[in-house]
Amino acid sequence: MAIRRIIRMGHPLLREVARPLAPEEIGSDEVKRLLGDMVDTLHDYGGIGLAAPQIGESVRLAIIEIPGGATRYGELAPMSLGVFINPTIEVVDAAASGYWEGCLSVPGLRGYVERPQHIKVRYLNEQGEAQEIELTGFPATVFQHEFDHLDGKLYLDRISDTRLLAFEHEYERYLLPQTEG
Ligand code: NI
Repeated sequence: MAIRRIIRMGHPLLREVARPLAPEEIGSDEVKRLLGDMVDTLHDYGGIGLAAPQIGESVRLAIIEIPGGATRYGELAPMSLGVFINPTIEVVDAAASGYWEGCLSVPGLRGYVERPQHIKVRYLNEQGEAQEIELTGFPATVFQHEFDHLDGKLYLDRISDTRLLAFEHEYERYLLPQTEG
């Protein structure tokens, strides 16, 4: 497996609608290799999610791994590494709340994005089995962020107030929500 280069905002591939994986592709050597590369790349860059288009592969595949404990998003319940193929999102409750999002394809920036906080996701796992998972709060935001990449969207497209877009350094200095303790 290999660490791949993450393409950045401005690369046209990040704006494409990715194609679904066909059932016979899931489990193939090629997709296994791609998944291995994605995991290595995510761990090397140190993110919580990565979509295949971010390493230049325009297919509907994303991985998500949320570390537990205290993070800049507050106290989080951990979510072990998951593989999400051809995912779809159903909004269960449209009530939205916001987080300061970042993206490995938009390095150095943070932006405040409001998204629905209760969703249901249907997807195929690595074995091609149909799965569904219901998510609330921060994980719901993470999944929506990652799956937006499969539709050629970046979190910047969803910022409703561009005054809430900042460089990381200034975000940490002036804007970081104060946590208790
Ligand atoms: Ni991203």
